[in-house]
Amino acid sequence: MAEITPQPGIMDISLYQGGASHLAGVENVLKLSSNENPAGPPPAAIEALTNAATRMHLYPSTDHAALRTAIAEVWNVDADRVICGVGSDEVLQFVTQAFSGLGDEIIHTAHGFSMYPILANMAGATPVSVPERDRVVDVDAILNAVTERTRIVLLTNPGNPTGTRLSDTELVRLANDLPEHVILVIDGAYTEYADGYDGGLTLAEARPNVLMTRTFSKIYGLGGLRVGWGYGPKNMIDVMTRIRQPFNLSTVALAAAEAAVRDTKWVEECAALNADQRARLTGALRQLGLACDGSDTNFVLARAASVPEADAAEAALNADGILVRRVGGYGFPEGLRITVGNAEQTGRVISALTEWRSAS
Ligand SMILES: Cc1ncc(COP(=O)(O)O)c(C=O)c1O
Repeated sequence: MAEITPQPGIMDISLYQGGASHLAGVENVLKLSSNENPAGPPPAAIEALTNAATRMHLYPSTDHAALRTAIAEVWNVDADRVICGVGSDEVLQFVTQAFSGLGDEIIHTAHGFSMYPILANMAGATPVSVPERDRVVDVDAILNAVTERTRIVLLTNPGNPTGTRLSDTELVRLANDLPEHVILVIDGAYTEYADGYDGGLTLAEARPNVLMTRTFSKIYGLGGLRVGWGYGPKNMIDVMTRIRQPFNLSTVALAAAEAAVRDTKWVEECAALNADQRARLTGALRQLGLACDGSDTNFVLARAASVPEADAAEAALNADGILVRRVGGYGFPEGLRITVGNAEQTGRVISALTEWRSAS
């Protein structure tokens, strides 16, 4: 009997590991493992979703016109150059699938988002990992890795799980020095937490080979609904639209995302709350002897001195019902990625770690 074999690359995929949500025997777990918004969804999005529920017997919009228009108005961009996906994950899948295949290479950085090698393999392309320097993206390392087979560079900026950000000057240098046949994807999932950063919008506006991706899963508090978007040159968006399923986003998801993006005041308030608690958490971690870089996101990467020390810190947090993310798979076996919570939640993290330090 003929053997059924998958497409090349599929068996190279290691399954994505999401942040844990349960701790055996603990109720009311404080989940700080997936960079979700501690404020929950914006009330305006809940109202829009509830109203849209009466229309769920009808197929949703296929062109996402209302959501694209809202995004265009809020960000002052061209609605015809916006594409929406089931999370930014799907937008990243559109670009890798539409523009790379067998024999092509996709560059990502050593500590970049763990979906990148998976997406490259899904497209049949070869993922190429390049080192970062002191947990910051190294533009020269990327440029040195480019070959004539390179089709795409996938860049997380600000980084996950590092939380660090490439300066605007370095970002422009990367865009300038990449050959024109290479697409630069700037994944700006955490843009709204980075003061003064446009997420790559200016570059995506001006360059023929730059795509920016954004998500509703983080500051907009809609991770469970799965909505993301991309912005790039019209011809790139048109190509990607050909492989987008016509009804990829549900009626309720579209309605909630539109309300969320229009609620700019709520987003500003969440960013301010995050900045306060992030500074507090970073300061406390450093005082407790856990190294961490300044973060431009809604999480902090705490680095213990050793893996056993990280294990002990995690155990102490778990004992207090707090879940954080171990990031060995991202090249930091001694790292704990801690989502910034609200004031009370941050206080819980600091107390648990302070008690652990004083007991050890
Ligand atoms: C850097 C980065 N990009 C993309 C995503 C995917 O987000 P979503 O598919 O929920 O929009 C995440 C989620 O954690 C992320 O951290």
